[in-house]
Amino acid sequence: MSGAIHPVIERILIPEEEIRARIKEIGAEIGRDYRGRDLIMVGILKGSIPFLAELIKAVPLDCAIDFVSISSYEGTRSTGVARLLLDLRENPEGKDVLLVEDIIDTGLTINYIVSNLKTRKPKSLEVCTLLDKQVPRRMPFKARYVGFPIPNEFVIGFGLDYNEKYRNLPYVGVMRQPALREGAPQPKTATV
Ligand code: IMP
Repeated sequence: MSGAIHPVIERILIPEEEIRARIKEIGAEIGRDYRGRDLIMVGILKGSIPFLAELIKAVPLDCAIDFVSISSYEGTRSTGVARLLLDLRENPEGKDVLLVEDIIDTGLTINYIVSNLKTRKPKSLEVCTLLDKQVPRRMPFKARYVGFPIPNEFVIGFGLDYNEKYRNLPYVGVMRQPALREGAPQPKTATV
């Protein structure tokens, strides 16, 4: 997508060029930290897809990629209920696992995945998130790599959705409140 700002966007929070530049920095940092190690980068579907796709190109290592999917969100509110929808293809035992997430908000999703993966005895387990919402967490969590701390607003784009839409916007933008209200009664689940 390119050109004019999408009508559901109130304002662009992080422009495309800034996101891409920051991802290059994080990729280089991961490259330094994981040199000589057996790294698997695990994308948390679906929101991490654009981030992971850019990030792996910026990591100068022979790493593997894998995916997990869990569901914990309905509309714009966390249900607090986590469910594993798709598990890793490979056994993470003895591997250096780096979870790649689009956003950490309440912390429930990432805490659920981290505690689940820890039981499989990875050699190390860290988290890289594009966005870190500055809110009091329902479950404390600090990611090893953070793209951007952001204010407590509902954002879409660069992988983040509202009722499964707008993931393909090339920037991260704050969603207009009327658009959120119009969409609110829809009972669709936005998977993470
Ligand atoms: P948490 O479990 O509350 O930390 O939320 C993590 C998940 O909620 C993310 O993977 C997103 O899918 C979703 N989420 C949280 N905040 C937003 C937002 O502002 N926009 C879109 N999705 C969000």
